[in-house]
Amino acid sequence: NRRMQFLLDEEHGKKHNRLKQLSHFTNLKKNDKQHEEKTYDYVFDQAQAVDFTGGDEEDDADSKLTADEKALWEKIRREEERVKTIEDTRKSLPVFQYRDQLIEAVKKYPVLIVVGQTGSGKTTQLPQYLYEAGFDKGPLGKEVARKDGQKFKIGCTQPRRVAATAVASRVSDEVGTRVGDRVGYSIRFDDRTSEKTVIKYMTDGMLLREFMSDPDLSEYSVMMVDEAHERTLHTDILLGLLKELSSERPEFRLLISSATMDSEKFSAYFNDAPIFNVPGRRFPVSIHYTMQPEANYLHAATTTVFQIHFSQKEGDILVFLTGQDEIETMAANLRATCEKLAGQMERQLIVCPIYANLPQEQQKLIFMKTPANARKVVLATNIAETSLTIDGIANVIDCGFVKEDRYSPVTGIQSLAVVPCSRASADQRAGRAGRTGPGKCFRLYTRWSYMNEMAATPTPEILRTNLSGVVLQMESLGITDLLHFDFLDSPSPEALIKALEQLYSLGALNEKGELTWTGAKMAELPCDPMLARCLLASSSLNCCTEVVSVISMLEESNSIFSGRTSRKAGENPSAQPSAATSAEKFRTRADARLGGDHLTLLEIWNQFATNGFSPQWCRDNFIQYRAMNRARNVRNQLARLCRKMNLYGEEEIEEQNGADSMIRMESMSRDERDRLKVRIMKSFARGFFANAAKLSRSGDYYQTLKKHQPVYVHPSSALFRMVPPPKYVIYNELMLTSKEFMRNCMPVSERWLGEYAPHYYRSSGGK
Ligand code: CDP
Ligand code: MG
Repeated sequence: NRRMQFLLDEEHGKKHNRLKQLSHFTNLKKNDKQHEEKTYDYVFDQAQAVDFTGGDEEDDADSKLTADEKALWEKIRREEERVKTIEDTRKSLPVFQYRDQLIEAVKKYPVLIVVGQTGSGKTTQLPQYLYEAGFDKGPLGKEVARKDGQKFKIGCTQPRRVAATAVASRVSDEVGTRVGDRVGYSIRFDDRTSEKTVIKYMTDGMLLREFMSDPDLSEYSVMMVDEAHERTLHTDILLGLLKELSSERPEFRLLISSATMDSEKFSAYFNDAPIFNVPGRRFPVSIHYTMQPEANYLHAATTTVFQIHFSQKEGDILVFLTGQDEIETMAANLRATCEKLAGQMERQLIVCPIYANLPQEQQKLIFMKTPANARKVVLATNIAETSLTIDGIANVIDCGFVKEDRYSPVTGIQSLAVVPCSRASADQRAGRAGRTGPGKCFRLYTRWSYMNEMAATPTPEILRTNLSGVVLQMESLGITDLLHFDFLDSPSPEALIKALEQLYSLGALNEKGELTWTGAKMAELPCDPMLARCLLASSSLNCCTEVVSVISMLEESNSIFSGRTSRKAGENPSAQPSAATSAEKFRTRADARLGGDHLTLLEIWNQFATNGFSPQWCRDNFIQYRAMNRARNVRNQLARLCRKMNLYGEEEIEEQNGADSMIRMESMSRDERDRLKVRIMKSFARGFFANAAKLSRSGDYYQTLKKHQPVYVHPSSALFRMVPPPKYVIYNELMLTSKEFMRNCMPVSERWLGEYAPHYYRSSGGK
């Protein structure tokens, strides 16, 4: 018999009984009467508890702290409690001591690599130091007039949207102005800057776009590429462009900031640029592994949260998961359990999810100081690995996975998959527990997995993703010789050729590989080339209004319904109203048999508009108002841009605050409407012909047209188990879980594919 082990704090072992109940609670569904009664006559189910092996001998430095070290830590902790004002907090950060040296170094060297532990103040402080040193008046802090009379900007790029917005809001507080005033941010579909803005945080993708309108970045005196170690595709391309720029603009200053890894590599790439090291403090973190592999890490994480909560006095908890859906599920699960245990908990558990789509005010919650007699549980993705630092975390729970884009240049198949993270990531995650005192990290995987199943470092995105989007942008910047572009890590020639081929087949490049008029227009649109091609096609097919609606909805398609939208086999469709019956209703109205998920999304959008964008309507239909609101925001911006680019056809009506696609369709006769639907579908076929799949002979799965890879209709799709199944479909994306699933599918006619992509399918010659 396996002995149950809670290796958290032995002296709290008496709480085991309470813990035993917990493993049942976590499985409990709300409103599930049968279970509810069971919860109080619990039997401990060993299989459901999470067992950890003891802290690693060498890692378990917690217990090995000497008396001196403990005293030192106490001193630092008291010191930190003492500093209260913003000014004091700023001064307490490790970078502060190096302020003058840093400014000196920036003035002296055109390119400087700054390395420092996460939380040392690089992101929030360095741009402020440069501003205080007068970099807004001119490069190198000397007064220089700009042609347009404006001040210079200090830019800072972030790989993620959440980081850009959170940091801008934090630095605004520190500077004492509102976001968009002196400090602002710019992310896709959301620009919060003004003429007054001098410190500008932005996503790396947005700076790449700015390069297209201003290749000299003449607005900026200095640019900081932050989190360079993350090696996102956009950051890598930026590094190449900025390297060139800094040889053309000698007064321009470039900072590359990175958590410790890879700094030598950056230095070598930038002709041996100096590395400025900001020493940081970090406390020991003991590592705990599970003894057995965990089949369900969400469940294991929930149980572990309560194990910690009931056995440890203080210290907040940070949980690493792979995406918004998991974060929401776990948050709901934790809250439900808390409700059940309200009477038994000595201290309250505050659940704080964080992801890009969460409203700003809620995002800010994670940074709030935890009230006495409470404990904070932050649920995050790898955003919290290095980009965001949350004070007070003493426990980290690491699921060991990450969601990644994978692309094979051979098959041309791109899919999203949840894969084991790297050891470097796992170590970064663990390190988050040791910022303000000794901490603990609970890894929901075995030590063996860590050693054998995880890669040492993550693969840079540029080596594993579809490059067509950035290749198009580079082409439009006039960088045509991609094979000889100075990349930090060069993508394979196959991947580049594949991207060029795809752009050629979309009509963005001609036979000579030159950018076409269509390509130039596509590059202007802030979306993936395939979607950009749809928009252009919709322009000539007079249905831009509708395609803009569908595209805005596609981004949110996974979070529109609150609840499962697929029915289990044999489930009665007319039973209880639910997300599934509501989805069914929209599918019927949209005639999903013909129009698939795309036209279903349009139907949902139009109904939302008809009902005055009302939250009540959303609730009645099991639709998440927040997701719809985000879609509405994206739609507004995209529609404005399309109007600016003159993509709306003559027949199309004036923008009506998002209600235009609804008004137009309602004013049509049935015939007209059917013809319009066909044009919408053709627009998507024009962009997505490369994602076409044909029904297999057996009829229960599809094969990609190009390489005959088996792919399956996702259960959430309107086409799931449709009888008879359409012969040809195109899909919006592939998601790899147990199989390659096609998400957001639309039936297409073979004729359209032949018409839009004769060269594409001819050249493959079948196999
Ligand atoms: O960039 P780096 O990891 O070196 O540190 P930072 O992000 O500049 O964080 C410095 C300090 O500001 C940390 O103590 C953070 O907890 C704090 N911070 C915050 O309270 N709220 C934010 N939105 C961002 C940072
Ligand atoms: Mg940072």
